[in-house]
Amino acid sequence: MDMVKSAPALKYDGPIDPLDVSRAELYRDDTWQAPFEELREKAPVYRVEGSDFGPYWSVSTYKPIVEAESLPEIFSSEAGGITLADMMPDSDVKMPMFIAMDRPKHTGQRRTVAPAFTPSEMVRMKDDIVRRTAEILDTLEYGKEFDWVDTVSIELTTQMLAILFDFPWEDRRKLTFWSDWAGDIELVKTPELREERLKHMFECGAYFGNLWNQKVGKEPTPDLISMMIHSDAMSEMDQYEFLGNLILLIVGGNDTTRNTMSAIAYGLDLFPDERAKVEADPGLIGNTVQEIIRWQTPLAHMRRTATQDHELGGQMIKAGEKLALWYLSANRDASVFGDNADDIQVDRPNARRHLAFGHGIHRCVGARLAELQVSVLLEEMAKRRMRVNVVGEVERVSACFVHGYRKMPVEISKY
Ligand code: HEM
Repeated sequence: MDMVKSAPALKYDGPIDPLDVSRAELYRDDTWQAPFEELREKAPVYRVEGSDFGPYWSVSTYKPIVEAESLPEIFSSEAGGITLADMMPDSDVKMPMFIAMDRPKHTGQRRTVAPAFTPSEMVRMKDDIVRRTAEILDTLEYGKEFDWVDTVSIELTTQMLAILFDFPWEDRRKLTFWSDWAGDIELVKTPELREERLKHMFECGAYFGNLWNQKVGKEPTPDLISMMIHSDAMSEMDQYEFLGNLILLIVGGNDTTRNTMSAIAYGLDLFPDERAKVEADPGLIGNTVQEIIRWQTPLAHMRRTATQDHELGGQMIKAGEKLALWYLSANRDASVFGDNADDIQVDRPNARRHLAFGHGIHRCVGARLAELQVSVLLEEMAKRRMRVNVVGEVERVSACFVHGYRKMPVEISKY
């Protein structure tokens, strides 16, 4: 999501700290659990001296993450952006996004899009989401192997974004393409990839610039572009901020919901007894949605930068230092979720307490929409008595920010 030219390529070649949980291979190989367990137990606020992203603090338990997010003036989203990858402050190619702004600017810009995600908007959108989900599920062939990520998760989330933006339907996979480039923080590690990413972001900007031109000066329509054009804060937003916020919405709503939909297939296959529970009682779907989001945690961390010295979890964080708030780890914190926090438990009583949407003033603005899409998917599967069986090796995203899957071979069956 960091849409600003990033700092010069970093490839750290000093001694590796086994507790440096920013290493991409931990996520590619699904081996992040053990180091986080050790961090939670021994050093919930821990300083990593050397990493590809430079020195940083790892915050890995529930309480200090909530504390840091409750003090947005001290732990800023704006000072250094929201991913461990640094921004280049002297860059002239900036597309500011409100996720990486502090108050008061953040408040005004968040308000421009919040009306798209109210409970009444969810009611308005639900029938359409049900129809599109049903259409996709009805194209799936029983007993034949296919990739769940591409056929179901990507297609459903991309369609949703196309509708939210009133985006040309036939071009909708461009949204997936741009989102993948914008959200992959590993790309900042070589200048060539950084350059290529920037090129794609400009293409994206130009495309949305055209859509904007078609809507400006016209009657308002119920899509995000028109909503932003007609909002009060728009008069204070320049074109870079407008584009930055659009890209934020594309990335924010894309990988995250996609990877939750993939986690439905993967996680329930991994815990068949839990799957049997929700298959037997569709009344559990609401809680299952929360539990899958907790268990997957599609965004592993958000970064904050200290604006002043402040003690957190017994450690003195100095002004200017950066912190990774590991939601992924907080959602496994045994003091909140018990000893079986690594497992999916579809009737977990406090699944809702997860931090996968963050906490405080930046808490995910699209959370209701994500929950709606995921619960509709489970409901439509239940109506068809459809079970998803993972039949081969899954391929995971190799990065410490977006936590998800690239490929997942599955076959569907009836129960
Ligand atoms: C913010 C997660 C779905 C748009 C966030 C944050 C997280 C998050 C962790 C940042 C919190 C922080 O910095 O403290 C997720 C997850 C999702 C999801 C796990 C799906 C399961 C969506 C959807 C949209 C969206 C569907 C829109 C279509 C945004 C925006 C922000 C945000 C615009 C910035 C909010 C702010 O800074 O005030 N999300 N998100 N997200 N999300 Fe989501």
